[in-house]
Amino acid sequence: MRMVDLIEKKRDGYELATEEIQFIIRGYTDGTIPDYQMSAFAMAVLFRGMTERERADLTMAMVHSGDMIDLSAIEGIKVDKHSTGGVGDTTTLVLAPLVASAGVPVAKMSGRGLGHTGGTIDKLESVPGFHVEISNEEFIRLVNENKLSVIGQSGDLTPADKKLYALRDVTGTVDSIPLIASSIMSKKIAAGADAICLDVKTGAGAFMKTLEDARELARAMVSIGRHTGRKTIAVISDMSQPLGYAVGNALEVKEAVDTLKGKGPEDLRELCLVLGSHMVVLAQKAGSLKEARAMLEASIASGNALEKFKVFLKSQGGDVSVADHPEKLPQAKFQIDLPALESGYISGITADEVGLAAMMLGAGRATKESKIDLSVGIVLHKKVGDPVKKGESLLTIHANQEDIAEVKEKLYKHIRISKEKTAPPRLIWEEIE
Ligand code: URA
Ligand code: CA
Repeated sequence: MRMVDLIEKKRDGYELATEEIQFIIRGYTDGTIPDYQMSAFAMAVLFRGMTERERADLTMAMVHSGDMIDLSAIEGIKVDKHSTGGVGDTTTLVLAPLVASAGVPVAKMSGRGLGHTGGTIDKLESVPGFHVEISNEEFIRLVNENKLSVIGQSGDLTPADKKLYALRDVTGTVDSIPLIASSIMSKKIAAGADAICLDVKTGAGAFMKTLEDARELARAMVSIGRHTGRKTIAVISDMSQPLGYAVGNALEVKEAVDTLKGKGPEDLRELCLVLGSHMVVLAQKAGSLKEARAMLEASIASGNALEKFKVFLKSQGGDVSVADHPEKLPQAKFQIDLPALESGYISGITADEVGLAAMMLGAGRATKESKIDLSVGIVLHKKVGDPVKKGESLLTIHANQEDIAEVKEKLYKHIRISKEKTAPPRLIWEEIE
C-alpha cells in the first residue's frame, strides 16, 4: 500500500477500506508516513468527508494506536461523560457525585487542558489536600467502593490523535466533522468507556457556534458509538452565555457544592439532571429517564449526593470541611463589583468573552506551561432575561491584581442591557440517540 494512492483515492471521493485506514494511522503514528502526506490526507477528508463506516474505522484505528485503559475490574457499566467545552461549565463536578449516588460507577480519567479555566482536576485541586496521583489499583478499588474516583491522565492514550490534532491545528483542517468526531470518541473509548453521554454545546462560547453544526457533530459521534458498540447519546445545550454564575476554579467548586445542596443556579441544576438521567439509564440503573430523574432529584433533596461528594474528596486526601466552609477554598485578594450603567433587561452575556476575561485574571492556561490561579474568576449576579437597575452589581470580579481596567472594559462591552424584556435562551436544544 502507498500513502499517495490513498490520498488520491480520498481526494477523488472514494470510500477507503478498513485496512487502508488502519495503514494510514499506523504509519502516521510510527513516523513512516510524514506530516506533509498526512496533512494532504486531512485536507482531502475535510473536502470529501467520510462515510459512517470510515469514521468508525478511523476512531478505532486511533484507539489502537496507544494504550487502552482496562476498567473490567470495575463492576457495572462504565458511563463516561464528555463536554465539547464551554465557559463556567461546572457540570462534571456536580454530575460525578450525583450519578455515583444513584449507583453509576464513575471512573474518571481527566486531564488539565488549556482553556478559560482549568479542567476538572485543576478545579478539584482547589480543595486543600485533594490529589489525583493514585495508583491504578487504588483507582479501581475506590470506584468499586464509593462508585467514584478521579485519576490524572497516565499511559500513552491515542498518540495518533495527539499527533493528528496538532497537525490539523496548523494546516487548516480542524473544522471537519469526521475528524473532530473520531478525535473525541477515540479518547473516550481508549479511556475505557462502555457507554458515553455527550454534552455538545452550541453558541458563542462553544466550539460549534451554530445549532446546525452542533447537531451534525452530535449525530456523527452517536453514529460512531453505534458502530463501535459503545451506546452513545448526545444532548445539545446552550453556551451562548456562561453556564451557572461562577467562572473560575475554586469559584466553580463552590457553585458545584451549592448545586449538590439544591441551592445552585437553575440552568446548571437542570443540565445536570438531564445529562445525569441519561447516564443513569445508560448504566441500566433505571428503566426510563423519568425514573432516573426522580432518583437524582431525591438524592439531592436527601443530601446523599452531597455526602457522596464528601466521601469522594476524603478518599483522595481532600479537606471535606470546604463543603460547609467555602472560605477554606483559595480566595482572591480583591473582590470588585461591576455596577450596571443603565436600567433595563440583560439581553446578552457573550460566553467566550467572559471566558477570556477570566483568563486575563489568571483562571486558565494559555500554554501547557502556564500556571493557574485557582482563586480568581468571575461570579455573575445576572443572566440573560433578568431585570437590572442602574448601579446594581452585574457581577463580582475575584482578582489578585489591582489593575483590572482591561477586564472591566471587556465585560462591559460584552454584557448588553436593553430596554425591552428579553427571553432567556433555551437551555436544551435536542437529545440525540
Ligand atoms: N476536540 C478534540 O478533542 N478533537 C478535535 O478534533 C476537536 C475538538
Ligand atoms: Ca458555572
